[in-house]
Amino acid sequence: MSIWRVKPISAFEADMKKSDLKRVLGKWSLTAIGVGAIIGGGIFVLTGTGAYYHAGPALAISFIIAGIACVFAALCYSEFASILPVEGSAYAYAYGTVGEIFAWIIGWGLILEYAMGSMTVAVSWSGYFNKMLKMFHIELPDYLTTDPASYTGEGFSMNLPAFLIVLLVISILIKGTKSAAKANNMIVLLKVAAVLFVIIAGVFFINTDNWSPFIPEATQIIDKESTHNAYGLKGIVSGAAAIFFAYIGFDAVSTQSGEAINPKKDVPFAIIASLSICTVLYILVSLVLTGMMNYQDFNPLGKYPDAIKAPVAYAFDIAGQGWAGFIITLAATVGLVSVLMVMIMGQSRIFLGMSKDGLIPQVFSKVNPISGTPRTNLMILGAIIAIVAAFTPINELADMTSFGTLFAFTMVCIAVWILRVKQPNLTRTFRVPALPVIAICGILINTYLMYNLSVKAQMFSGAWLIIGIIVYFGYSKTRSKLNDDNSIE
Ligand code: ALA
Repeated sequence: MSIWRVKPISAFEADMKKSDLKRVLGKWSLTAIGVGAIIGGGIFVLTGTGAYYHAGPALAISFIIAGIACVFAALCYSEFASILPVEGSAYAYAYGTVGEIFAWIIGWGLILEYAMGSMTVAVSWSGYFNKMLKMFHIELPDYLTTDPASYTGEGFSMNLPAFLIVLLVISILIKGTKSAAKANNMIVLLKVAAVLFVIIAGVFFINTDNWSPFIPEATQIIDKESTHNAYGLKGIVSGAAAIFFAYIGFDAVSTQSGEAINPKKDVPFAIIASLSICTVLYILVSLVLTGMMNYQDFNPLGKYPDAIKAPVAYAFDIAGQGWAGFIITLAATVGLVSVLMVMIMGQSRIFLGMSKDGLIPQVFSKVNPISGTPRTNLMILGAIIAIVAAFTPINELADMTSFGTLFAFTMVCIAVWILRVKQPNLTRTFRVPALPVIAICGILINTYLMYNLSVKAQMFSGAWLIIGIIVYFGYSKTRSKLNDDNSIE
């Protein structure tokens, strides 16, 4: 009973034949799922931090570096998706190649990306929603918008909007993937329009002096709590880690392979298309932002102390275009719903795959025959996400989402390389060019970005992975479906 046993490709194929999921997603719906997960709060929020604490106007280069890190991973994901068009994403890919323990730890790490990501997105949605209400002069009391640990008043408190948005999203997802994809498509159009709006309207307020020097000299920034090494080449790289969250999501396409009409071709297409679209948009947004507002004006101890919290909206405010802030807040509020939708959907499909393999309880693999969705799975997941988002200060741990994602990216790059060596003749409708160079670059750059995340995120994520190993040996190993099949080693 080896921990390195591999699930044979034929077993995946058999699973696919038996699957009750409905194949309803075409090429563009899949691309919209990618864009739906990628464009969220990140681009509207992290750009200020990236510019002030890390890269200055060279933030655009940070976006290029983070984009390249993602491209390496995206290519590797695409090759796998062309071989194993099943739900489960990186977890399934590792199970089919490297071995069970490796797959398990990736699946466990993906919980950080998808479930934990959903919790933090629900909380940031609540922040935008409250801001939007305020624009209409409606103010919710603090005890309904704050988790108990962060609440300074007395008595009961919860983040009610975060709780309710998760329930709303779950109810959409339970109805069926086709209707969820339709809702997602509409939201995506709106978000892309908002980002294009920022770029096009922002161009008129660019002062090119703000771009000079484009790469400010490396220096130390000392603020209230800590000292930061900023700017220069190092600042550009740490900036890439800081804004990486904004890119998270394109891999969610690969969790939907079980519902794609033509997964072997369309999933690779959608992964690469959604990432390319967002990379171009992000580079342009960061150029416009640092052109509109001098990066030093994002200093929280400077003349605009709040600018760093909502940099894009603020830049328009300062340009005398307060109405733009309204559009951005509206777009982020609506846009984050689709991030949440895709992330929860992704997590449920990963659990579905893990449960079919026996590594987590069977209740996660029941698919409702009418809706074609894993209903119980979604309901359990929704309840956990809603409760954690409402009652804990989860957004303090947002970096763990980046850690989980970078970890999975690194593992997928390793796994694609191993599979090429082990099974070179397998049919691949998409092949990573220049392997192993691309895989090695992916491994190095993603590991380096992981190393650049906050120490707190690294420690908590490490602890999470250790818990995962304990769960594997205490529960999953003995329940694995591969135990029933003696032919598999
Ligand atoms: N990429 C997503 C966002 O920026 C997670 O919100």
